[in-house]
Amino acid sequence: MKILIIHGPNLNLLGRREPGVYGVQTLPQINERLRKLAEEIDVELKIAQFNSEGDIVSFIGNNMDWADGIVINPAAYTHTSVAIRDAIVAVELPAVEVHLSNVFGREEFRHFSYISPVATGIVCGFGPESYMLALEAIVRTVRLSAKTE
Ligand code: DQA
Repeated sequence: MKILIIHGPNLNLLGRREPGVYGVQTLPQINERLRKLAEEIDVELKIAQFNSEGDIVSFIGNNMDWADGIVINPAAYTHTSVAIRDAIVAVELPAVEVHLSNVFGREEFRHFSYISPVATGIVCGFGPESYMLALEAIVRTVRLSAKTE
């Protein structure tokens, strides 16, 4: 099974960016943990971080034939991007939306997501652990749907 892991804008600054909100783990540390988990559950990952919306859209489209599912933290684009939402719909792949913080306990503008209505599910509020839970969730979802097909 092949899964895309997509990190949105400013997540390259994790570890130094608002550690009280996002924690002290860096993105390379989170990616390393994801790779380890993926190996344990026999999954291949393509991991990427982009600060630009168009790059995220292109990455999703360019990998539509490679991937079986998507784990995406669209970061601030969660609350603004019709283009990323359309890309997820276009490729017809299951997608889990991830957030490190509990966006519903934060400012009101973070309560709305363009992505949630087209995601298979959402994991938020568990810090870096949100990504691990999301990877497990997407893998189970894809394996279950392969069994019932
Ligand atoms: C975030 C939450 C977003 O509201 C914010 O813009 C981010 C990170 C999170 O992981 O908690 O950049 O997606």
